[in-house]
Amino acid sequence: MQKFQICASVLNADMGNLERVSKELETSGAEVLHFDVMDGVFVPNISFGFPVLEAVDKSTDMFLDVHLMITNPMRYIPHTIKAGADLVTFHLESESNPYETIRLIREHGAKAGVVIKPATSWEAVLPFMELIDVVLVMSVEPGFGGQSFMESSLDKIKSLRSYIDTNHLPVKIQVDGGINDKTAALAVNAGADMLVVGSYLFKGHTVSEGVQALRAAVSQSAHE
Ligand code: DX5
Ligand code: ZN
Repeated sequence: MQKFQICASVLNADMGNLERVSKELETSGAEVLHFDVMDGVFVPNISFGFPVLEAVDKSTDMFLDVHLMITNPMRYIPHTIKAGADLVTFHLESESNPYETIRLIREHGAKAGVVIKPATSWEAVLPFMELIDVVLVMSVEPGFGGQSFMESSLDKIKSLRSYIDTNHLPVKIQVDGGINDKTAALAVNAGADMLVVGSYLFKGHTVSEGVQALRAAVSQSAHE
């Protein structure tokens, strides 16, 4: 069975009960808690910031993966990590210098990752591949949960998989947007290691049931 991690995005979870949500996630089988920070400038939406991240960090021991969709990530890296981030990913399309941003993330003791939007080519991350832990391929336009998976992301994942394997790099491929019990298998079979899952996990079933359904769907596709 293919190994992959489930990163639960709390963007569309019940914000009035974040503590309950993080407790539920801890026993759900999801390995990572994915936290989407938006500034209303880099993306046309605003989500949540440091006080909420600190509250989540206090309420759970889960690995916290913070996805920064902001214009100037460099400026907020120290605070993000102080607030509890274990992994910080930032967009290559932002205004910060990627080399300096990666260095700053590492200096503050977190893992570092770069994110590319759907219109950015996979080759754009190549200069940073020796420096990062994670490359995040967006499979929707960043900013909102509940959008449909863009299949064009699969070719990028395949190219990155082959580059990482050929060069024996320890970089994980993460995919974010539109992951459900149909698209999870497509992403894992293309080579993704970490699936960010938002609305699918928080709609129509418990989070544990959602996690199990995703694992079953991927495992089923391996036998087809
Ligand atoms: C979107 C965010 C995602 C979002 C995914 O910009 O980066 O993490 O929560 O939500 P779904 O899984 O609903 O596409
Ligand atoms: Zn995200």
